[in-house]
Parts: sequence; C-alpha cells; structure tokens
Amino acid sequence: MIHLKTDEEIELMRKSAKLAAEVLIMIEPYVKPGVTTNRLDEICHDFIVSNGAVPSPLNYRGFPKSICSSINEEICHGIPSDRKLRNGDVVNLDITTYLNGFHGDTSRMFHVGSARKKMTKLVETCKEALQSAIKLVKPGAHLGDIGATIQNIAEQRGFSVVREFCGHGIGRSFHEDPQVLHVGTFGEGIELKKGMVFTIEPMINEGKPDLEILSDKWTAVTKDGLASAQFEHTLAVVDNGCEVLTRLNGQTVF
Ligand code: MF3
Ligand code: CO
Ligand code: CO
Repeated sequence: MIHLKTDEEIELMRKSAKLAAEVLIMIEPYVKPGVTTNRLDEICHDFIVSNGAVPSPLNYRGFPKSICSSINEEICHGIPSDRKLRNGDVVNLDITTYLNGFHGDTSRMFHVGSARKKMTKLVETCKEALQSAIKLVKPGAHLGDIGATIQNIAEQRGFSVVREFCGHGIGRSFHEDPQVLHVGTFGEGIELKKGMVFTIEPMINEGKPDLEILSDKWTAVTKDGLASAQFEHTLAVVDNGCEVLTRLNGQTVF
C-alpha cells in the first residue's frame, strides 16, 4: 500500500531530508586518501545526532553502523570499517536520517584524491541517469518512465543497471511501497500521484550487472569485480512535477 503524504507530512519530511543532504556536504572535505570509513561513519553519526536526529541504518535489520560506505566494486550496503580510502578509489556514502518521525535518504559518489577517467565517466553517467529520471516525475507519469530513462542512459554508454535493488517509498518507514525499479518501459507501471514520496537510487556498473553478497551478509559487490556507482535522492510528487527533498535550497548538491 502506498502512503500518500499530506502537505504537513511533506513539510516534516523536508526537514529530515534536508539534514541528510547537509551530511553529504559536511562530510566532503573528510573524504580523502588515508581516512577510514569508520572515521567517516563516526563524523556523520555525531553530526546527525547533534542535530536531534537518529541515523536510520544503525541497527536497521541488524546493520551495525550509521551510514553505508561502498568502495569501488562494492555496489551498496558496504559496512564502514578500518579500511583506509586510497587515491583513485570511488566511494558512495549513503545517508539516511530519522527526524520528526520521518526518514530522509540520499547518497552520492566521491572520487578519493585524483579521479580516474573511466571512473569519471561512470560516476557522471549515474548522476545524469538520476537527474533525467527526476525530470520525468510528475502526476500522470508512470514508474516505468523512471526505469526506462535510467536504463537507456546507462546502456547507451556501455554500462549496466543493477536489478536486485531498487528505489522505494519512504516516510514514517525507511522502506515503503512502491518499489522503484531502475530498468523498465515508458508508460508501464503504476501512475504517479501527488503526495507520493519515494527515492530514486540507480546503481550503474562498469561491467556486468550481476552481484554477490559478501559473508558479512550486507555488502553487495559486482561479480566481475568492476566498479559500481550510485546516487540517490528522496523526492515528493507535487502538483506540477516533483520536489527533490534531499536538495538544499540554492545549493546543488548533485
Ligand atoms: N540507504 C539504503 C537505501 O537507500 C538502505 C540501507 S539499509 C542499511 O535504501 F541497513 F544498510 F542501512
Ligand atoms: Co534508499
Ligand atoms: Co540510501
């Protein structure tokens, strides 16, 4: 069942989502060669808590940390550890905050130190795929439109789209209906309605789409060991389009 949000609920969600977006801005200067993902986790945790919120991942279905950090061939749900980031790595930090009874969910890629050309192309393609999907979100559009545009952009550039994980409705629960697939066909799937709030979070692989889950039961990695990129926004369907709740006023995070 899809919970349509009232304007009052969307106002509360805006606050939680804005905080999640602020975390990604706050953490950027720390994402440098030599830093451990545990340290990034700790800094984000303290920032979220000092703003009166709770990091949603912590203890979610047994997840042990406050953020997800996914490096290179890790697709998503990487667990922060004592591993140090190295020059040329690409890392996704996925931040979810719980504030005023609502979750806000956003993630982005960072190049650690100097960016490698192939990685820049992968990361930019993933970002563009998300942006092109966001442009299509409005009442009367279909969920399939989102998947189709993401799939087209990724595959045109010779990349592939992960099928096993998708975007999701979000609100008082971290993960709600509907499932937002990142592949699909224009015009198919449920029709979007004002008040729907969901994430779009494409995972785009440099090589094949297949994945494996590591023995930690969380970290999803590409089977072929090639890199993967992901960006995520939380957005609300409004009268004439959509509002990206995890974008800061006047500041384009990505
Ligand atoms: N933030 C992830 C998402 O975009 C979910 C992380 S679940 C966790 O849906 F337990 F790994 F944190
Ligand atoms: Co999400
Ligand atoms: Co997320």
